[in-house]
Parts: sequence; structure tokens; C-alpha cells
Amino acid sequence: MPCTVIVGGFFGDEGKGKIVAYVSTRDRPAIVARAGVGTNAGHSFMLEGVPVKLRQVPSGFPYKDARLLIGPGVLVDPTVFFSEVEKTKVKGRIGVDRQCAIIERKHIDRDKSDAHLSSEVGTTGSGTGPCNSDRALRVTKLARYLPELKDYLADVSKEVNGALDRKQRVIVEGTQGTFLSLFHGTYPYCTSKDVCASAACSDVGIGPKRVDSVLIVFKSFVTRVGTGELPGELGEEETKRRGWTEYGTVTGRLRRAAPFNFDLARRAVMLNGATEIAVTKLDVVFPECKDVKSNKGISKEAFDFIKKVEDNTKVPVTLVGTGADISSIVDLKEKKSR
Ligand code: IMP
Ligand code: MG
Repeated sequence: MPCTVIVGGFFGDEGKGKIVAYVSTRDRPAIVARAGVGTNAGHSFMLEGVPVKLRQVPSGFPYKDARLLIGPGVLVDPTVFFSEVEKTKVKGRIGVDRQCAIIERKHIDRDKSDAHLSSEVGTTGSGTGPCNSDRALRVTKLARYLPELKDYLADVSKEVNGALDRKQRVIVEGTQGTFLSLFHGTYPYCTSKDVCASAACSDVGIGPKRVDSVLIVFKSFVTRVGTGELPGELGEEETKRRGWTEYGTVTGRLRRAAPFNFDLARRAVMLNGATEIAVTKLDVVFPECKDVKSNKGISKEAFDFIKKVEDNTKVPVTLVGTGADISSIVDLKEKKSR
């Protein structure tokens, strides 16, 4: 599949980072391009026992031959960007689109001091909402005007479309989750733009006909940080009892949790035109599946759950996450094609 778009199916934190890292290592793409809002997204996974947390650098960085790009739709905070470039050692193969809008201190201050944003919506405080609002007013700075980004500037849509013309593989990394979309989510408890697959294409500058597969990521249970409805929400005690307690990558906030939601999953598949599904953290709901790497290790109960996801959505589950490390995965697609 030359062009795959990877998106979140619930409220973010489905484990997209790990899936992008795994698929990038497996499929050896020429380009991994990050789409989505900006530094409000934290993609985290374990790489050879070391935790990785990324808010700007594409999660496909473990595949060393990939060109890493940040699409023009994405907001860039230079402080976060440079710190991650240093940590991941990707200087020389990462590019920022000339048209990326820049998050400044004033955007972060507004995000944190505005009562509507910080208390009512419960934002991540990363400045993305105020920056997108300034962008709509056409008063933000763009990457091309920042001398410190000079060596990183790229024409992302030209590179991505060029790679696809040459039949090279491209992975587009979406962020957040379907129901945090400004258009399709739980407004006003949502992020500051659309985050579905078609928006991810627009973020990096490819037309809808260039996409071959849309891989939607669902966690085996649902979580959300911040405010807004969460159908079937469990109390803090029950969440803890089930071992589903998680904390936000960007904010450290306790995530609210609920059981897997088939109605939301069906709607997310529709909104994204999903063609395949990754189910992550199967081991958290079915501990007997911890770190298994073959479908033989998946218990009957867990397989019944996967089957139920497929039956409800009419889309095949091709990947199953069974632990934090990128190697803790069952690749059902690989097995089927052999
Ligand atoms: P903002 O995107 O920082 O403006 O936050 C708006 C809402 O989206 C808040 O409820 C955040 O917690 C949520 N949100 C934004 N990005 C993410 C993410 O990457 N994962 C989970 N929640 C997010
Ligand atoms: Mg996250």
C-alpha cells in the first residue's frame, strides 16, 4: 500500500504512536509525514526498553531511512521541535513545511489563562487553540520567517506527492482522535480543528484519491482527558480496579475511562473511511495476552472481542497491540498474506 493514513478512532491516546512506529519499521516508507493539530498531541511508546514521547517529530523515526516531515497544517512550537530533534537525533532527515504556523509564548499563556479554554474545555495548555485562532485571523508567524528553522524548511506536499508519483511508500501520521474533531467531535469539548483522515490528507497536502488505506486505531477501552461526555464512564475506583488507569502524555492528567464503545467505533470508521483497524492495549483488558507476538497467543475471550469489533464495523482488524514496546504486536495481516 503506497499511502497509508493512520488516525485515532476515539478521543486520542489510542496508541497511534506505537502503531506508526511499528508500521514504519515493517513497511519501510520513504516518508513519514506528521499531520494533526500540533504540540497538544503526545505520541508515546517504548523503543528497546526506552520510553519515547513525541509531540512534533513523526513517530516513524525508528525507521532510519525514512524522511520525516511535518505538514503545513500542523502547528510548530520551535522549543518542543528542537528538543525532540536533539533527543531523536533526526537532524538531516526531518523537514518542516514553510507554511507551518508557529506557536508563541503568548498562545500558551492565552491557552492557560483563559477560563473557557483551561477550565471549561480543559485543553492541554499547549497553545494550539489560540494559535489556530490567530491563524484563522491570518496573524500568526509562519515557519519560513524564522531564521532558526532555515535548515529545516521543506515543501511537504511536493515531497509527499513526488514520492507517491515514484510509487514509494508514505505514511501519514494523524493525531488526536475522531471525537476530538472540531467538526465531528463533542463540541465545544474538542480540539481546534478537524482531525479525521481527510483533514490529515489536507494537513500534508495530498488529495483524497492518493490514499490507499486508512488505518484507524482503537484502544481496547476508551479514555479521554479534559472535559466532555464519555459514554459509559467508569468511576476512578472502578477504573483502578480494572487496571485501566492512565495519565496524559502532554499534561500528566488522569485519563477518564470507559469500556470499548462499538457505536463510537462504527461512527469513527464511517467518518474516516477506515479500511483496516488496529486494536491496542489488548493486554490491559485481557492480561493473559501480555506481550504475545503471534495470534496463537491470543486467548479465546480476546479473539471474541476482536471478532466483535470486526462484526460491528465491517472492517478487518489487522494489528493488535499487546504491550508497550513496539515489538509487542500481533500482525494479523502479515500472517494472512503469508
Ligand atoms: P487542545 O487540543 O489542547 O485545545 O485541547 C482540547 C481538548 O482536546 C481537551 O479535552 C484535550 O484534553 C483534548 N486533546 C487534545 N489533544 C489531545 C491528545 O493528543 N490526546 C488526548 N486528548 C487531547
Ligand atoms: Mg496522546
